[in-house]
Amino acid sequence: MLTLKKTKGKDFRILNLSDPQLGDSEWAEGHNCRFLIRTVNALVERVHPDLITVSGDLSWAGNDAAYDCLADFLDGFGIPWAPVWGNHDNQGGAENMDAVADRYLSHPLCVYEKGDPALGNGNYVIGIEEDGRIVSALIMMDSHDRAPYTNEAGEEQTVWAKLWPEQMVWYREQITALDALGCHDSAMIMHIPFYSYRYAADAAYKKDIDRKTVTPALADGEDVWNEGYKDSIGVQYEGICSYEADDGVFPVVKELGSTKYVVVGHDHVNNFMINYEGVNLIYSLKAGNGCYWNPILNGGTVLTVGEGGITGAKHEYVDVSDML
Ligand SMILES: [Fe+2]
Repeated sequence: MLTLKKTKGKDFRILNLSDPQLGDSEWAEGHNCRFLIRTVNALVERVHPDLITVSGDLSWAGNDAAYDCLADFLDGFGIPWAPVWGNHDNQGGAENMDAVADRYLSHPLCVYEKGDPALGNGNYVIGIEEDGRIVSALIMMDSHDRAPYTNEAGEEQTVWAKLWPEQMVWYREQITALDALGCHDSAMIMHIPFYSYRYAADAAYKKDIDRKTVTPALADGEDVWNEGYKDSIGVQYEGICSYEADDGVFPVVKELGSTKYVVVGHDHVNNFMINYEGVNLIYSLKAGNGCYWNPILNGGTVLTVGEGGITGAKHEYVDVSDML
């Protein structure tokens, strides 16, 4: 486990960026990357994070220069930063991912461990320590790229991947180890949502509402949410691109009782936060215009850690409409 120190009497703030996803030419040419740069600059200035996490799709596999540009950019803030990989990062295969990881690890502020290669690329834990005690931990997981799936008609398909069973064994081991250290609080950060994001959205949004028409302002009120989910916020403008069948992840999370926040990216124009059966299932705000975006959903998502663990999550929007 890697550890970062929390100052006593002061919150530890984690700024999550998601899906920056600019290619070599976009970084080189400098026009498209202006949204990302302005967004992250504004977020760092506003949030003063102690750690920046990136929930996947940092660029496009094979765009080596872009990966390096992003790493240099993040290192420039003088703040530790920690990535997990998304489907587009993983598309170059394990060897390519390993090479990117080697270059990232040469950046002084990159907090990352390759982890057991049998579990994918980069499964690791960051403990947040105050006075020698781990108050919370970030479980950083690789949600891979694609996976085979047989649909109801018996057709073989390739769909969005899920966490592998051996990763769930590893997750259980990490939580058990944290429990033994007296830490019963954690967040899981990964790229592709797990299947229960679908259950959560179906349980929380009112049935008679067309989710595509809900504005962020409306979704931050109570009118779109069912009873029991009134504290939910955020929109769902596209499908929940998880694995196509229940992956069994959520029951493990719930059973172990440590992880109360899950932060994913992947679906750039979803940003809901729903407390589903005691666990906050969160889509991070996307940073910048890489790949596709909706400028009204631009920014980052902040987790605040107090001495007793994570106390809340908040989207920090960055308005870049004057640059459009
Ligand atoms: Fe993406």
